Amino acid sequence: MTNRPENRVLIFDTTLRDGEQSPGATMTHAEKLEIAEMLDEMGVDIIEAGFPIASEGDFKAVAEIARQSKQATICGLARANFKDIDRCWEAVKHARSPRIHTFIGTSPLHRAIPNLTQDEMAERIHDTVTHARNLCDNVQWSPMDATRTEWDYLRRVVEIAIKAGATTINIPDTVGYTAPVESADLIRRLIADVPGADEIVFATHCHNDLGMATANALAAVEGGARQIECTINGLGERAGNTALEEVVMALKVRHDIMPYDTGVDSRKIMNISRRVATVSGFPVQFNKAIVGKNAFAHESGIHQDGMLKNAETFEIMRPEDVGLSATNLVMGKHSGRAALRSKLKELGFELADNQLNDVFVRFKELADRKKEVYDEDLIALVKQNDAVS
Ligand code: KIV
Ligand code: ZN
Repeated sequence: MTNRPENRVLIFDTTLRDGEQSPGATMTHAEKLEIAEMLDEMGVDIIEAGFPIASEGDFKAVAEIARQSKQATICGLARANFKDIDRCWEAVKHARSPRIHTFIGTSPLHRAIPNLTQDEMAERIHDTVTHARNLCDNVQWSPMDATRTEWDYLRRVVEIAIKAGATTINIPDTVGYTAPVESADLIRRLIADVPGADEIVFATHCHNDLGMATANALAAVEGGARQIECTINGLGERAGNTALEEVVMALKVRHDIMPYDTGVDSRKIMNISRRVATVSGFPVQFNKAIVGKNAFAHESGIHQDGMLKNAETFEIMRPEDVGLSATNLVMGKHSGRAALRSKLKELGFELADNQLNDVFVRFKELADRKKEVYDEDLIALVKQNDAVS
């Protein structure tokens, strides 16, 4: 259907929709526009800008993001009814490239909520996807809770949605229940079994309840998915969504075994991660992969010594590739003499061996009392040493 290379994976960012849905992560209108602009600039393919029917504010934000977008496709979410879909179209239609994303919960638990039989839901899917497609030629459909939907029913409704005109079928693991082998297998089976599946794009949308969202998303790509849905910092309901920075860097660093490309400029990752943390009010955990404060920091003597000799000893990515200027050698009680010498040199002090030994002893005493020894502390130690000797 497309002339996109077979190994190109589309990045669909839903920070402004699924991410913002996490309790307490509400962003202002101006903040949403700013994040959307950053996503657009970093090369995200599709930005899910919000849920236009949810509120007047969401509608306005999606409409304005649609108007300002320069490269990305702008998508809005809509439930499976005409009113939601019409409202969504009103908001996204201003975009250079608009998309309507409509969904309905297809698992037995979710079918019970609107109290629809399988046949009634199938008819609803047909009608709503057809309606969306009459408005917009780019329509995404999602069977919410797909990973807990009976195989025969999932297969059936995916076929209905494709026949009704969906151009992307997203397979959500809504409650983070699946595991990598199953995630790959599900997409593989759908592509093999559903007529018309090779004409459209399959997407994967994983939640992180069991900490497997990134692994499940990458496994789905192995199974044939060519769109990953994700958020900055993994922001999202409960334990969050697949983290954009993780999938982008995993595909970059392990291109040898996962030969798939994205259009994202990874050097913009750190900036947007920090901005999303600030505007959402959700700080990034220190040891978070890629963007955590400690992701490129080393304190132990053995690691610091290795890093000073060859950065590849303890780092599989270059800090510059995610937008950091350098690795951070944190000076603490585990640090060794080599790191101290190097740090002091950076600060403008070249000490003879005996002077370094003296400062090292004092440094260790201080490090035992303090978690981290800062540059100012080291400068003070050198000055005290000069005064004593
Ligand atoms: O997790 C989910 O199922 C969703 C859908 C709306 C795609 O976010
Ligand atoms: Zn979700």
